[in-house]
Amino acid sequence: MSVYEAIRLRRDVRAEFTGTPIDDDTLWRLLDAAHRAPSVGNSQPWDFVVVREPATLERFADHVAEKRREFRDSLPPERAATFDPIRIEGIRESGTGVVVSYDHARGGPNVLGRATVPETGIFSTVLAIQNLWLAATAEQIGVGWVSFYDADQLAALVGLPPGVQPVAWLCVGPVREFQQVPDLERFGWRSGRTLDQAVHRERFGG
Ligand SMILES: Cc1cc2nc3c(=O)[nH]c(=O)nc-3n(C[C@H](O)[C@H](O)[C@H](O)COP(=O)(O)O)c2cc1C
Repeated sequence: MSVYEAIRLRRDVRAEFTGTPIDDDTLWRLLDAAHRAPSVGNSQPWDFVVVREPATLERFADHVAEKRREFRDSLPPERAATFDPIRIEGIRESGTGVVVSYDHARGGPNVLGRATVPETGIFSTVLAIQNLWLAATAEQIGVGWVSFYDADQLAALVGLPPGVQPVAWLCVGPVREFQQVPDLERFGWRSGRTLDQAVHRERFGG
């Protein structure tokens, strides 16, 4: 599969997991793809905690359900009705969670390129996630990014050391199919912008 094809096919997956867990060799290839991402000062500030223990998946799913309820209750009635049928995770169904974490101390105090933009460490970690996501697509593996969590609670759940923060919980598993249209668009929550709207010439707005 070409990289363009993978980019076109990639979806955030919630409902299409087959229920069969990803095998170890394939998972390792995906983590290897993630670990090859560019990183500020070559600091590689990421770690990957692979979670397969059903009790841990269950606990995280319950926590996310609570955060979902809180978000739902914060919405005006019309938006709440649009939100209700939208799934936001496939934690149990995927059978595998990958918690991607960020360590600001990795690389020491003088990370080359991070002095003026401290967020470049997080940016690097997100690039690792995107590498994993595209590699997964090429392997017919779905990835769903879950961010409905309290960071301290997720850190405690998987034992992140002090100073190491979670960036994502990724649901990772084989899928029946990839949807052609993002769920949030299909369910009328929010549609994407066109490329024309995002590209500016010389100055913003130009
Ligand atoms: C930083 C980040 C956090 C996200 N968190 C969630 C989430 O908690 N639950 C969810 O269902 N989707 C989540 N998504 C997926 C987006 O909703 C999805 O990428 C977007 O709707 C576009 O759909 P697509 O990825 O299928 O193109 C997240 C995506 C990103 C990049």
